[in-house]
Amino acid sequence: MRVISIANQKGGCGKTTTSINLAAALATNKRKVLLIDLDPQAHATSGLNINSDLSIYNVLSKIVHKKCRLEEIIRNIDVNFDIAPSSLILSTLEQELSGEIGRESRLSDILAGFKANYDYIIIDCPPNLGILTVNAIRSSREIIIPVEASRFSMEGLSQITSVIELVRDRLNHDVDFRVLVTNFDSRLQHSFKMLDKIKSSYKNRMFSNIIHVNVKLKEAQNEGLHVFGYDKYCRGAKDYFSLSREIIIQETVPPETESNPEVEKLEKRMNQILKETLPKIKEITLSLNAPEAKEVYLAGEFNGWKLDENSRMEKTNGLWSKSINLDSGKYRYRFVIDGNWSEDPGNPLKQVNPYGTMDSLLEVKK
Ligand SMILES: Nc1ncnc2c1ncn2[C@@H]1O[C@H](COP(=O)(O)OP(=O)(O)OP(=O)(O)O)[C@@H](O)[C@H]1O
Ligand SMILES: [Mg+2]
Repeated sequence: MRVISIANQKGGCGKTTTSINLAAALATNKRKVLLIDLDPQAHATSGLNINSDLSIYNVLSKIVHKKCRLEEIIRNIDVNFDIAPSSLILSTLEQELSGEIGRESRLSDILAGFKANYDYIIIDCPPNLGILTVNAIRSSREIIIPVEASRFSMEGLSQITSVIELVRDRLNHDVDFRVLVTNFDSRLQHSFKMLDKIKSSYKNRMFSNIIHVNVKLKEAQNEGLHVFGYDKYCRGAKDYFSLSREIIIQETVPPETESNPEVEKLEKRMNQILKETLPKIKEITLSLNAPEAKEVYLAGEFNGWKLDENSRMEKTNGLWSKSINLDSGKYRYRFVIDGNWSEDPGNPLKQVNPYGTMDSLLEVKK
């Protein structure tokens, strides 16, 4: 079970939007997901149209009249997708826990005894670095820090990463973080500048997928739906689906267990599930004439820009090629020739990417 917190003390940077839609995307990929709404504002709860008398407060508080186990408050949203709702009263927990020993481990203690069979627990944090966020970090091995490209502040980022380091060192808890760029508006030069700034400090800790501004994400939340239930072909749905693939792909590469037959079986099954999930509309073959090259990869939006066995191209008589199954739509891609990223020289369709270079464009018609 992977426990991932979505945290940033900055308000409105896309924590809840990411929590809801990443959880839904993982569920679409046949992963069983529990979303824990740990924000007293309860935006994830209302954003999924859940009304509940019981909330995560009933699980975390020791003085509440109706004390519950986590299992008792869980509500189903969709296939493979459950939520542990929040409520305003959760805001009193901070005061209630002040002075209590082990207050920062209340949630992790509960999760340690939680027997339900989830592949992922996603925790939506409030916009502060108080006891709830510390509890979330203490319960997670991974933190996603959404950062809005439009109003990025370096100072805010260093504060949350300091808290993560503090939890890691003081509480001896192994936890890592990655930055997710949200609200990226490719029409604005400013967004590209911000992206460069984030990259210069957090290059190795960034997701390769970024989340673009898409009004459908806002509309879905207002309608009480995740974006896949609202408009599964919109840009926002595609961005969160690609992000989920980037996260899922990490399940399958444990180098130290590479020759373990059990792990190989699991990897095979996962790859099979991924293939089943992606509709196989058309088989497309991309090729590149590079007889001198030693290793070439095909990386694009369709494979989360990953360089691995699945994206490695085959060489026949100096011609490198790779076949992929794609749904109809437009996709950006690039070749990686002996470590150098380059556009497809045989394809005149190109578009500038957030890094200021060109991506080649592929359109698969219905
Ligand atoms: N990529 C996006 N495109 C368009 N609107 C977005 C996007 N991401 C978030 N929003 C909208 O921006 C607002 C703030 O987003 P969200 O609630 O996810 O932020 P948050 O970090 O959870 O906020 P808070 O700190 O208050 O919990 C919401 O109205 C949401 O619908
Ligand atoms: Mg929120």
